[in-house]
Amino acid sequence: MKIVRTIEDMQQQVQELKAQNLSIGFVPTMGFLHEGHMSLMEEAKKHNDIVVISIFVNPLQFGPNEDFDSYPRDFERDEKIAEQLGVDVVFYPSVDQMYPKPLSIKMTVTDRTNVLCGRSRPGHFDGVATVLTKLFHIIQPSRAYFGLKDAQQVAVVDGLINDFNFPIELVPVPTVREEDGLAKSSRNVRLTPEERKEAPNIYKTLQVAKEWIADGERDTNKLTDRLFASLETTISGSIDYLEILSYPELGNIDSVDGKIIIAIAVKYSNVRLIDNIIIDVA
Ligand code: PAJ
Repeated sequence: MKIVRTIEDMQQQVQELKAQNLSIGFVPTMGFLHEGHMSLMEEAKKHNDIVVISIFVNPLQFGPNEDFDSYPRDFERDEKIAEQLGVDVVFYPSVDQMYPKPLSIKMTVTDRTNVLCGRSRPGHFDGVATVLTKLFHIIQPSRAYFGLKDAQQVAVVDGLINDFNFPIELVPVPTVREEDGLAKSSRNVRLTPEERKEAPNIYKTLQVAKEWIADGERDTNKLTDRLFASLETTISGSIDYLEILSYPELGNIDSVDGKIIIAIAVKYSNVRLIDNIIIDVA
Protein backbone atom coordinates (compact mmCIF):
# COMPACT_ATOMS: atom_id res chain seq x y z
CA MET A 1 0.00 0.00 0.00
CA LYS A 2 1.35 3.40 -0.99
CA ILE A 3 1.07 6.50 1.16
CA VAL A 4 1.07 9.58 -1.04
CA ARG A 5 1.42 13.03 0.50
CA THR A 6 1.72 15.39 -2.43
CA ILE A 7 -0.63 16.23 -5.28
CA GLU A 8 2.19 15.82 -7.79
CA ASP A 9 2.96 12.27 -6.63
CA MET A 10 -0.72 11.40 -6.59
CA GLN A 11 -1.16 12.66 -10.16
CA GLN A 12 1.87 10.62 -11.19
CA GLN A 13 0.37 7.49 -9.62
CA VAL A 14 -2.98 8.12 -11.31
CA GLN A 15 -1.30 8.55 -14.71
CA GLU A 16 0.45 5.21 -14.32
CA LEU A 17 -2.80 3.47 -13.30
CA LYS A 18 -4.73 5.07 -16.18
CA ALA A 19 -2.02 4.00 -18.64
CA GLN A 20 -2.73 0.42 -17.56
CA ASN A 21 -6.47 0.95 -18.02
CA LEU A 22 -7.18 0.18 -14.38
CA SER A 23 -10.44 1.37 -12.84
CA ILE A 24 -10.10 3.45 -9.69
CA GLY A 25 -12.60 3.27 -6.83
CA PHE A 26 -12.26 6.31 -4.57
CA VAL A 27 -13.29 6.71 -0.94
CA PRO A 28 -12.84 10.25 0.39
CA THR A 29 -12.59 10.40 4.20
CA MET A 30 -11.44 12.61 7.02
CA GLY A 31 -9.77 9.63 8.71
CA PHE A 32 -10.23 8.13 12.19
CA LEU A 33 -11.58 5.20 10.25
CA HIS A 34 -14.38 2.98 11.55
CA GLU A 35 -16.64 0.25 10.15
CA GLY A 36 -18.68 2.85 8.23
CA HIS A 37 -15.62 3.90 6.24
CA MET A 38 -14.58 0.27 6.00
CA SER A 39 -17.81 -0.75 4.30
CA LEU A 40 -17.19 1.93 1.65
CA MET A 41 -13.69 0.56 1.06
CA GLU A 42 -15.00 -2.99 0.86
CA GLU A 43 -17.56 -1.92 -1.74
CA ALA A 44 -14.86 -0.09 -3.69
CA LYS A 45 -12.62 -3.15 -3.51
CA LYS A 46 -15.34 -5.38 -4.99
CA HIS A 47 -15.98 -3.29 -8.08
CA ASN A 48 -12.67 -1.67 -9.05
CA ASP A 49 -9.12 -2.72 -9.95
CA ILE A 50 -7.59 -0.18 -7.59
CA VAL A 51 -8.86 1.43 -4.39
CA VAL A 52 -7.67 4.90 -3.46
CA ILE A 53 -8.76 6.54 -0.23
CA SER A 54 -8.04 10.06 0.89
CA ILE A 55 -7.55 11.10 4.50
CA PHE A 56 -7.87 14.84 4.82
CA VAL A 57 -9.60 16.85 7.53
CA ASN A 58 -10.83 19.63 5.28
CA PRO A 59 -10.75 23.00 7.08
CA LEU A 60 -13.04 24.56 4.47
CA GLN A 61 -16.06 22.53 5.58
CA PHE A 62 -15.80 23.45 9.28
CA GLY A 63 -17.47 26.60 10.58
CA PRO A 64 -15.55 29.03 12.85
CA ASN A 65 -17.09 27.52 16.00
CA GLU A 66 -16.86 23.92 14.86
CA ASP A 67 -14.43 21.17 15.72
CA PHE A 68 -11.68 21.38 13.07
CA ASP A 69 -8.85 21.49 15.64
CA SER A 70 -10.31 18.84 17.91
CA TYR A 71 -11.50 16.51 15.11
CA PRO A 72 -10.13 13.06 16.07
CA ARG A 73 -7.03 12.03 14.11
CA ASP A 74 -4.89 8.86 14.22
CA PHE A 75 -3.02 8.27 11.00
CA GLU A 76 -1.04 5.24 12.18
CA ARG A 77 -4.21 3.41 13.12
CA ASP A 78 -5.90 4.44 9.86
CA GLU A 79 -2.93 3.22 7.88
CA LYS A 80 -3.19 -0.25 9.45
CA ILE A 81 -6.94 -0.47 8.79
CA ALA A 82 -6.52 0.59 5.16
CA GLU A 83 -3.69 -1.90 4.67
CA GLN A 84 -5.77 -4.74 6.14
CA LEU A 85 -8.63 -3.95 3.81
CA GLY A 86 -6.39 -4.10 0.77
CA VAL A 87 -6.45 -0.40 -0.08
CA ASP A 88 -3.87 0.33 -2.77
CA VAL A 89 -3.18 4.02 -2.24
CA VAL A 90 -3.79 6.38 0.67
CA PHE A 91 -3.74 10.03 -0.35
CA TYR A 92 -2.79 11.91 2.81
CA PRO A 93 -2.08 15.55 1.96
CA SER A 94 -1.42 18.40 4.38
CA VAL A 95 -3.61 21.49 4.50
CA ASP A 96 -0.79 23.47 2.83
CA GLN A 97 -0.64 20.91 0.07
CA MET A 98 -4.37 21.18 -0.66
CA TYR A 99 -4.71 24.94 -0.05
CA PRO A 100 -1.30 26.57 -0.60
CA LYS A 101 -2.97 29.97 -1.06
CA PRO A 102 -6.48 31.34 -0.74
CA LEU A 103 -8.65 30.04 -3.58
CA SER A 104 -9.41 32.48 -6.38
CA ILE A 105 -12.77 30.84 -7.14
CA LYS A 106 -15.43 30.13 -4.55
CA MET A 107 -18.01 27.37 -4.87
CA THR A 108 -21.48 27.90 -3.46
CA VAL A 109 -23.91 25.01 -3.29
CA THR A 110 -27.29 26.55 -4.06
CA ASP A 111 -29.55 23.53 -4.18
CA ARG A 112 -30.69 21.28 -1.32
CA THR A 113 -28.78 23.25 1.31
CA ASN A 114 -31.58 25.27 2.94
CA VAL A 115 -32.54 22.25 5.04
CA LEU A 116 -30.92 19.84 7.52
CA CYS A 117 -27.15 20.28 8.00
CA GLY A 118 -27.01 22.89 5.24
CA ARG A 119 -29.13 25.18 7.37
CA SER A 120 -27.38 24.55 10.67
CA ARG A 121 -23.87 24.54 9.18
CA PRO A 122 -23.70 27.48 6.73
CA GLY A 123 -20.87 27.06 4.22
CA HIS A 124 -20.31 23.41 5.15
CA PHE A 125 -21.38 21.98 1.81
CA ASP A 126 -19.48 24.70 -0.08
CA GLY A 127 -16.35 23.35 1.61
CA VAL A 128 -17.30 19.75 0.83
CA ALA A 129 -17.96 20.59 -2.85
CA THR A 130 -14.64 22.46 -3.09
CA VAL A 131 -12.48 19.71 -1.63
CA LEU A 132 -14.25 17.01 -3.64
CA THR A 133 -13.79 18.98 -6.86
CA LYS A 134 -10.06 19.06 -6.15
CA LEU A 135 -9.91 15.40 -5.10
CA PHE A 136 -11.95 14.23 -8.11
CA HIS A 137 -9.59 16.11 -10.44
CA ILE A 138 -6.48 14.75 -8.74
CA ILE A 139 -7.61 11.12 -8.43
CA GLN A 140 -9.87 10.81 -11.49
CA PRO A 141 -11.84 7.85 -10.14
CA SER A 142 -14.28 5.73 -12.12
CA ARG A 143 -16.46 5.39 -9.03
CA ALA A 144 -16.70 7.35 -5.79
CA TYR A 145 -18.22 5.90 -2.61
CA PHE A 146 -20.26 7.88 -0.09
CA GLY A 147 -22.19 6.81 3.00
CA LEU A 148 -25.92 7.40 3.34
CA LYS A 149 -25.35 8.37 6.95
CA ASP A 150 -24.60 11.74 5.35
CA ALA A 151 -27.56 11.57 2.97
CA GLN A 152 -27.54 15.30 2.27
CA GLN A 153 -23.86 15.04 1.31
CA VAL A 154 -24.79 12.27 -1.15
CA ALA A 155 -27.45 14.56 -2.67
CA VAL A 156 -24.97 17.46 -2.93
CA VAL A 157 -22.27 15.24 -4.50
CA ASP A 158 -24.84 13.99 -6.99
CA GLY A 159 -25.46 17.63 -7.98
CA LEU A 160 -21.71 18.33 -8.18
CA ILE A 161 -21.03 15.35 -10.43
CA ASN A 162 -23.94 16.20 -12.72
CA ASP A 163 -23.45 19.97 -12.87
CA PHE A 164 -19.74 19.77 -13.62
CA ASN A 165 -19.76 16.61 -15.76
CA PHE A 166 -17.37 14.54 -13.72
CA PRO A 167 -17.17 11.14 -15.46
CA ILE A 168 -17.67 9.44 -12.10
CA GLU A 169 -20.28 6.99 -10.89
CA LEU A 170 -21.56 7.95 -7.45
CA VAL A 171 -22.12 4.88 -5.27
CA PRO A 172 -24.19 5.44 -2.09
CA VAL A 173 -23.56 2.91 0.71
CA PRO A 174 -25.98 2.09 3.59
CA THR A 175 -25.28 3.34 7.12
CA VAL A 176 -23.26 1.03 9.36
CA ARG A 177 -24.41 0.97 12.99
CA GLU A 178 -23.24 -0.16 16.41
CA GLU A 179 -25.13 -3.14 17.84
CA ASP A 180 -27.43 -0.82 19.76
CA GLY A 181 -28.31 1.08 16.59
CA LEU A 182 -26.11 4.17 17.00
CA ALA A 183 -24.71 5.16 13.60
CA LYS A 184 -20.93 4.71 13.55
CA SER A 185 -19.11 8.01 13.49
CA SER A 186 -15.57 9.22 14.10
CA ARG A 187 -17.13 11.74 16.46
CA ASN A 188 -18.80 9.13 18.75
CA VAL A 189 -15.59 8.98 20.82
CA ARG A 190 -16.41 12.47 22.07
CA LEU A 191 -19.66 11.42 23.76
CA THR A 192 -19.57 11.20 27.56
CA PRO A 193 -20.43 7.71 28.91
CA GLU A 194 -23.95 8.91 29.82
CA GLU A 195 -24.49 10.45 26.39
CA ARG A 196 -23.20 7.30 24.69
CA LYS A 197 -25.79 5.28 26.63
CA GLU A 198 -28.75 7.36 25.49
CA ALA A 199 -27.54 8.21 21.96
CA PRO A 200 -29.15 5.08 20.40
CA ASN A 201 -32.49 6.76 21.14
CA ILE A 202 -31.87 8.84 18.01
CA TYR A 203 -32.09 5.75 15.82
CA LYS A 204 -34.94 4.38 17.95
CA THR A 205 -36.91 7.54 17.20
CA LEU A 206 -36.32 7.01 13.48
CA GLN A 207 -37.65 3.48 13.86
CA VAL A 208 -40.72 4.78 15.74
CA ALA A 209 -41.32 7.19 12.85
CA LYS A 210 -41.28 4.27 10.48
CA GLU A 211 -43.85 2.43 12.64
CA TRP A 212 -46.17 5.42 12.87
CA ILE A 213 -46.04 5.82 9.11
CA ALA A 214 -46.72 2.10 8.67
CA ASP A 215 -49.70 2.54 11.01
CA GLY A 216 -51.11 5.10 8.59
CA GLU A 217 -49.96 8.52 9.81
CA ARG A 218 -49.14 10.68 6.77
CA ASP A 219 -49.24 14.23 8.12
CA THR A 220 -45.64 15.50 8.18
CA ASN A 221 -46.27 18.23 10.76
CA LYS A 222 -48.04 15.88 13.13
CA LEU A 223 -45.31 13.26 12.74
CA THR A 224 -42.55 15.81 13.27
CA ASP A 225 -44.19 17.27 16.40
CA ARG A 226 -44.86 13.85 17.94
CA LEU A 227 -41.38 12.57 17.14
CA PHE A 228 -39.75 15.73 18.48
CA ALA A 229 -41.69 15.42 21.74
CA SER A 230 -40.84 11.75 22.05
CA LEU A 231 -37.11 12.19 21.31
CA GLU A 232 -36.84 15.15 23.67
CA THR A 233 -37.85 13.01 26.65
CA THR A 234 -35.22 10.33 25.94
CA ILE A 235 -32.09 12.43 25.42
CA SER A 236 -30.22 15.08 27.36
CA GLY A 237 -28.77 16.66 24.20
CA SER A 238 -30.64 19.40 22.32
CA ILE A 239 -32.38 18.61 19.06
CA ASP A 240 -30.76 20.64 16.29
CA TYR A 241 -33.29 19.44 13.72
CA LEU A 242 -35.82 16.72 13.10
CA GLU A 243 -37.10 16.91 9.54
CA ILE A 244 -39.12 14.83 7.13
CA LEU A 245 -38.39 15.68 3.49
CA SER A 246 -38.70 14.20 0.03
CA TYR A 247 -35.61 12.26 -1.05
CA PRO A 248 -33.36 12.87 -2.95
CA GLU A 249 -34.83 16.34 -3.66
CA LEU A 250 -34.86 17.31 0.06
CA GLY A 251 -38.03 19.32 -0.49
CA ASN A 252 -40.61 20.17 2.17
CA ILE A 253 -43.67 17.95 2.08
CA ASP A 254 -47.04 18.25 3.86
CA SER A 255 -47.78 14.60 3.61
CA VAL A 256 -45.60 11.52 3.55
CA ASP A 257 -45.64 9.87 0.14
CA GLY A 258 -43.03 8.13 -2.07
CA LYS A 259 -39.35 8.22 -1.14
CA ILE A 260 -38.73 10.29 1.97
CA ILE A 261 -35.95 10.96 4.44
CA ILE A 262 -36.41 11.36 8.17
CA ALA A 263 -33.31 13.04 9.53
CA ILE A 264 -32.23 14.06 13.02
CA ALA A 265 -29.31 16.04 14.43
CA VAL A 266 -28.63 16.24 18.17
CA LYS A 267 -26.14 18.51 19.89
CA TYR A 268 -24.33 17.00 22.87
CA SER A 269 -21.78 18.71 25.09
CA ASN A 270 -18.79 18.05 22.81
CA VAL A 271 -20.28 16.64 19.67
CA ARG A 272 -23.17 16.92 17.26
CA LEU A 273 -24.60 13.62 16.00
CA ILE A 274 -26.64 13.07 12.84
CA ASP A 275 -28.66 10.12 11.62
CA ASN A 276 -31.41 9.40 9.12
CA ILE A 277 -33.50 6.74 7.48
CA ILE A 278 -34.77 6.79 3.92
CA ILE A 279 -38.02 4.94 3.28
CA ASP A 280 -40.36 4.38 0.39
CA VAL A 281 -43.96 4.99 1.42
CA ALA A 282 -46.56 3.43 -0.82
P1 PAJ B 1 -16.05 11.41 6.86
O1 PAJ B 1 -16.97 11.96 7.89
O2 PAJ B 1 -14.73 10.87 7.27
O3 PAJ B 1 -16.83 10.30 6.09
C1 PAJ B 1 -16.25 9.66 4.97
C2 PAJ B 1 -17.32 8.81 4.32
O4 PAJ B 1 -17.73 7.78 5.22
C3 PAJ B 1 -18.60 9.62 3.97
O5 PAJ B 1 -19.07 9.24 2.69
C4 PAJ B 1 -19.55 9.21 5.07
O6 PAJ B 1 -20.92 9.30 4.69
C5 PAJ B 1 -19.13 7.76 5.29
N1 PAJ B 1 -19.60 7.27 6.60
C6 PAJ B 1 -19.39 7.83 7.81
N2 PAJ B 1 -20.02 7.14 8.79
C7 PAJ B 1 -20.65 6.11 8.16
C8 PAJ B 1 -21.48 5.04 8.62
N3 PAJ B 1 -21.78 4.86 9.90
N4 PAJ B 1 -21.96 4.17 7.67
C9 PAJ B 1 -21.66 4.33 6.36
N5 PAJ B 1 -20.89 5.32 5.87
C10 PAJ B 1 -20.38 6.20 6.76
O7 PAJ B 1 -17.85 12.81 4.93
C11 PAJ B 1 -16.71 13.20 5.02
O8 PAJ B 1 -15.75 12.54 5.76
C12 PAJ B 1 -16.22 14.46 4.33
O9 PAJ B 1 -17.29 15.37 4.21
C13 PAJ B 1 -15.59 14.19 2.94
C14 PAJ B 1 -16.60 13.56 1.97
C15 PAJ B 1 -14.35 13.31 3.07
C16 PAJ B 1 -15.14 15.55 2.31
O10 PAJ B 1 -14.22 16.17 3.13
